[in-house]
Amino acid sequence: MNGAIVYCSQTGFTEKYARWLAEDLGWEAVAYADRGSVDVAALDVLVFCSWFHAASIKGAAWAKQAMAQHPDVHAVVLATGATPPPDSGWSSEDEIEQAFCRTFPEEECPNLPHFYCHGGFDFDRLGAIDKVAMRLFFRMLGKNAEHDPKAREMLDIMREGFDGTSRECLKPVLEHIEGFGKH
Ligand SMILES: Cc1cc2nc3c(=O)[nH]c(=O)nc-3n(C[C@H](O)[C@H](O)[C@H](O)COP(=O)(O)O)c2cc1C
Repeated sequence: MNGAIVYCSQTGFTEKYARWLAEDLGWEAVAYADRGSVDVAALDVLVFCSWFHAASIKGAAWAKQAMAQHPDVHAVVLATGATPPPDSGWSSEDEIEQAFCRTFPEEECPNLPHFYCHGGFDFDRLGAIDKVAMRLFFRMLGKNAEHDPKAREMLDIMREGFDGTSRECLKPVLEHIEGFGKH
């Protein structure tokens, strides 16, 4: 199979997953800025990796356009976020699913394989606008933290920064992609 991984990453967590996938699949990982160099029509599989930004996924418009223009190419989406994964008990499948569906609605992208992998948070590496957005978010969390211990814990984790990436998280993604070769 011939594939490519296009990744959109600001602080490096999504890039880490994209590079792991590239290593495991033997495909190229291409930064979003260089997406024009990818000949999507020549691929069997396009993996789009990006991150959750205010409950939508960065760079999704390009991915949706590529999928619409090349319906014969298998597309897979991997998104990272700061939200702890459902098996941690912090979030629910539904929450994550809704966030995916907002960006890739079923009517527009039917049966799109999509995966959530825990990313991380690194305030210092954010762009100026996102720093402002996160300061506002922290302020809101701070208010909630007065009566909600979960918000308190989340605020502490985010302020401190964390790396939640794990190669294990890619197992279902790799299994799914390997499945394409069997049909
Ligand atoms: C402005 C902003 C909004 C964010 N919104 C969300 C969100 O809605 N859900 C979520 O889980 N994570 C959210 N995050 C966290 C990022 O998705 C997370 O840090 C991600 O792993 C960053 O990926 P990157 O290192 O590849 O840039 C947000 C981060 C920023 C800076």
